[in-house]
Amino acid sequence: MTEGLAPIPAGHLPLSAQAPGKCIVFGEHAVVHGAPELLFAIDLSTQVVVRPAPRWVLNGDPSAAERHPYFRSVIQSPWAGAQPVDVRTVSRIPRGAGLGSSAALSAALTCALSSTTGGVDRPALAQRSFDVERGAQGVGSPGDTSAAVAGGFLTVNGEAIGESLWTVRDGDRTWNVRRVADPGWVWVVAHTGIPRATGDAVRAVGARLARPDGPTVLAEFARIATEGTRAVAAGDRKTVAELMVRNHELLREVGVSHPRLEALIEAAHPAADGAKLTGAGAGGSIVALPREGAETELVRRLARAGGLPFVVRPAPEGASLLSSP
Ligand code: PMV
Repeated sequence: MTEGLAPIPAGHLPLSAQAPGKCIVFGEHAVVHGAPELLFAIDLSTQVVVRPAPRWVLNGDPSAAERHPYFRSVIQSPWAGAQPVDVRTVSRIPRGAGLGSSAALSAALTCALSSTTGGVDRPALAQRSFDVERGAQGVGSPGDTSAAVAGGFLTVNGEAIGESLWTVRDGDRTWNVRRVADPGWVWVVAHTGIPRATGDAVRAVGARLARPDGPTVLAEFARIATEGTRAVAAGDRKTVAELMVRNHELLREVGVSHPRLEALIEAAHPAADGAKLTGAGAGGSIVALPREGAETELVRRLARAGGLPFVVRPAPEGASLLSSP
């Protein structure tokens, strides 16, 4: 058994669980079309506390299922069981920032509810968490939810350079998820403060890739993610940084950059080896690899340029039960 990938044991309500957010280094959007993606779980997480209740309630709101697509998607999942629960959430992951807040909520809640229905192994938890997010979002890949379930660095659709963790299915499609070694670097993320809808950005990129040059653009996304994953696994920081810059150019080309993202990338430049948007784009956040020793300068520059910057470190642990609330 891979360390940190132990099954989720059976438990009884009340229960508490957590799952981390994520940061995509290479391959967002292209992954939806079958290209590889490299991402890591971040040290910001969402916690849920789940108690028995006469009906489904989210953060004190008994009609949350009507307004909150992720909560509705959980309730509608056949595995959730008949026992309604009162769910309280606490999250340190900024919402709509491209940092996987919805995947972390999906995985933490799926983890807790799966425990109350007899426990679950990690591959099944990854599938169930993806089904919840997919049900709410309508489009997308299992990268975010797999990072929330596995922790650490992962590739989706990547080369066979790391241990295969699981395969996630979506109808006829399958996505292989593999472990990649953490190179041990510190990363800096900065949020523009501009929220956006992942589904809309994914559909717009889909339309862009349907043009005649789409296959060539997708092949370039795939090349960058494949070479970038090899470089991360080899600890080759210079190549990773160069490929981040190239990945951002392509994301700009397919229309998901934003003037605020461009301003942050520009501001990062003197203190970063490489920077790019991370997640769906069109707002959201950038991720930068700081020049060694320049983390503080980078954070200062990004704040001065109007971003909300913070240092992120990979979180080795994925979704887990916490001690009883
Ligand atoms: O911005 P986020 O956290 O919703 O990430 C989206 C990543 C995409 O590749 C754009 C979509 C996906 O499901 O993989």
